[in-house]
Amino acid sequence: MRSLSFALLGALTALTHAATPAEWRSKSVYQVLTDRFARTDGSTTASCNTEDRKYCGGTYQGIINKLDYIQGMGFTAIWISPVVENIEETTAYGAAYHGYWAKDIYALNSNFGTAADLVALSAAIHARGMYLMVDVAPNHFAWSGTAASVDYSEFVPFNSEDYFHSFCFISDYSNQENVEDCWLGDNSVPLVDVNTGLTTVQTEYHEWIAELVSNYSIDGLRIDTVKHVQKDFWPDFEDASGVYCVGEVYSGDASYTCPYQNYLSGVLNFPVYYPLIRAFTSSSGSISELVSMISTVKSSCADSTLLGTFSENHDLPRFGSITSDTSLAKNVIAFNIMADGIPIIYEGQEHFYTGASDPANREAIWFSGYDTTATLYTHVASLNQIRNRAIEVSGDTYLTYQAWVIYSDTNSLAIRKGDIVTVMTNLGSSGSATLSVTSTGYTAGATVVDVLSCTTLTVGTSGTLSVSITSGLPKVFYPSASLSGSGICSL
Ligand code: NOJ
Repeated sequence: MRSLSFALLGALTALTHAATPAEWRSKSVYQVLTDRFARTDGSTTASCNTEDRKYCGGTYQGIINKLDYIQGMGFTAIWISPVVENIEETTAYGAAYHGYWAKDIYALNSNFGTAADLVALSAAIHARGMYLMVDVAPNHFAWSGTAASVDYSEFVPFNSEDYFHSFCFISDYSNQENVEDCWLGDNSVPLVDVNTGLTTVQTEYHEWIAELVSNYSIDGLRIDTVKHVQKDFWPDFEDASGVYCVGEVYSGDASYTCPYQNYLSGVLNFPVYYPLIRAFTSSSGSISELVSMISTVKSSCADSTLLGTFSENHDLPRFGSITSDTSLAKNVIAFNIMADGIPIIYEGQEHFYTGASDPANREAIWFSGYDTTATLYTHVASLNQIRNRAIEVSGDTYLTYQAWVIYSDTNSLAIRKGDIVTVMTNLGSSGSATLSVTSTGYTAGATVVDVLSCTTLTVGTSGTLSVSITSGLPKVFYPSASLSGSGICSL
């Protein structure tokens, strides 16, 4: 219908490599809430009270200036907030600092910077060999006011009521038609539901996403509110984008969430998220529930290695709001990075931030001073480092290997993915245990290194590992022979 005003800038970036799902499999993603990550002025004191729900000043230029900080944790991709122009009003729920309240999808949210800044961010990320993932929310536009007061002429490009589903708020989550065709939000901020069943709407969205991806050399998309759009909208949308898409299907029920992977290459692993958090909340968390969900997801989802695996995000209570035990947090993060799927770590996890529900879980990262010596910062770095090493050594053999549980008891489990054996426990920082882990695939008499503590262990008969857990810490074993020359643990 109309073309992006910034087409010229896009053409100037010249980098138009379309990243495939297979290429994304090897990535590890740092989730940035653009408004809250870094400011252009580099301030570490600028006020940002999450309860105010206002813009705090994070920008694309701010992210560019802090790429060393992100890459220093071993990440190879960055997911940023939706980039399109949002409603400007201060609503009953504050401002659109998160980016999910679109008004004009052909313009950019100027609070985050200019088109040139976004092009520069994309180029800076690519210059490091990293990928850029952008959040998109084609399900809805937003309005400040009652549903009855929506002025459709304000929306671009869908500037009339004809492009939207008729008004009804979602009232029955057990009725999929109601979930898809009725509206999210409420009479303070209704999320005006686009009629994605219309051919004109589909064609427009296909053109729009192709241009957006091309203009900013985007490598992948995180798609918002996927379960609120009919499934058959998604394959053509992903095709039009030409890149890997990971969809937010907000449900812990694998039989509900996994089928969406038949329509998009990836979905966020909500089914594993819930049992993961429950398992490691305390020593009474259920390890068996997590073990069982790992295999349910493997058998229900089309490809567990293309899921987005996470343990925090901007909608969920941070793990640090549930427990202050750093050992437990280290176990959750170890699972997050060493299990199947593309790991996603939400900004602030590396500082063990404690915000609970939205908006408290959207803290400004600058208050951390971007401290690269923080305990969880170095923990994340070690985990990404060994994952990146396994990818370097074994490539797709590692990446497509579906992790399986080779040991579990009431408080601990061990998973094997390729040559890596990760042992985790919910005993907490005062916990210790000795486990006999079999089916490691290791050769008797060979040595393996726990890369988190840099201790070496000799493999016992039939590949058995005798693992001593202390202080409730996780362990990540990898053959010494494959570490040689890596610099990991000085090898
Ligand atoms: C899910 C997003 O992650 C959340 O932050 C947003 O408010 C809703 N979808 C609506 O777009």
